[in-house]
Amino acid sequence: MQVSEIKRIGLVGAGLMGHGIGQEFAVAGYDVVFHDASPQTLETVKDRIRCNLLELVEWDLAEEEQVDSTLARIETAQDLEETGAEADLVIEAVFEDLSLKQEVFTELDRVCPERTILASNTSSLMPSMLASATSRPDRVLVTHYFYPPPLIPLVEVVRSEFTSDEVVNTACDLLKVIGKRPIIVRKEALGFIVNRLQMALDREALSLVERGIATAQDVDMAVWNSFGRRLAVVGPLQLFEFQDGWEVALQIYNYITPDIESSKDPPQVMLDLVERKDLGPKTGKGFYEWNPQLEEAFSKNLKEALAGFLRADRERGA
Ligand SMILES: NC(=O)c1ccc[n+]([C@@H]2O[C@H](COP(=O)([O-])OP(=O)(O)OC[C@H]3O[C@@H](n4cnc5c(N)ncnc54)[C@H](O)[C@@H]3O)[C@@H](O)[C@H]2O)c1
Repeated sequence: MQVSEIKRIGLVGAGLMGHGIGQEFAVAGYDVVFHDASPQTLETVKDRIRCNLLELVEWDLAEEEQVDSTLARIETAQDLEETGAEADLVIEAVFEDLSLKQEVFTELDRVCPERTILASNTSSLMPSMLASATSRPDRVLVTHYFYPPPLIPLVEVVRSEFTSDEVVNTACDLLKVIGKRPIIVRKEALGFIVNRLQMALDREALSLVERGIATAQDVDMAVWNSFGRRLAVVGPLQLFEFQDGWEVALQIYNYITPDIESSKDPPQVMLDLVERKDLGPKTGKGFYEWNPQLEEAFSKNLKEALAGFLRADRERGA
């Protein structure tokens, strides 16, 4: 299937991720049909997308005229049959539960035409685990978006050993058409690329706190005021190569890595937080104190900064 043959996108799960993913396709001119097990989520999905679009207008990332035309391309469906019947691509974004996702894939396989590509937004499951629930493993893959989908350009396209090259290429082409930046994860690996990298950083950040080398606040401050800023515009490998060259990089690597955290067990400091129920905003406290105003301000600040990066990308034509 060529990307030009894709006209209609089905979204199964219209929650935090699903509604934002569907929004992106509708903005780009595709017909989108949402299905969700919760009637209330389905009823409010268009209002939620309208609010997101108005925010994009406020941040100069969309035109006001786009709001109604985008919403006009969105439908909702009470059942999966209606969602899949004419869809060229269906993206699943239900809860992260293997047996639930397998059930959805089996059902989608039954109700969708043969040509339909089936994708999952799973963060941690392998595409082969979902492909095995269908009779079309060559047309199943993972397209992993990041929150909030309209503000984060990357999508990890994860193939299983069964996914056809044609389906991988069509998915990547389609994502480029809607303005995303897809990368292909060539072999199934837990956490794909981004969450593996993120976890390596998180492990060392927690270890620094546990060993008393720095407070949590100072670790956070160190990252966002130093290499966090560079990483917003360049990747770690190119940066290492540019700054040090591989000969010097090797010396630094050998010097520091013996002391870097390598345990596979969860750090005690994390276990203690969980034990004390200092879970973060949910319980009002973690490493930081939280209340609803702070939580809202934190989220707004983050989204505005992400919108700024996207605006800068567009201005540079990147
Ligand atoms: N939240 C994130 O930052 C993030 C990032 C990347 C990927 N993901 C992945 O995206 C998926 C969805 O996560 P989310 O954060 O949007 O969750 P969410 O809880 O906000 O939304 C899930 C939605 O799925 C619906 N649902 C559950 N069972 C269903 C079924 N059988 N049929 C139709 N709808 C059903 C729920 O009613 C809910 O609206 C998960 O696989 C998650 O791992 C999440």
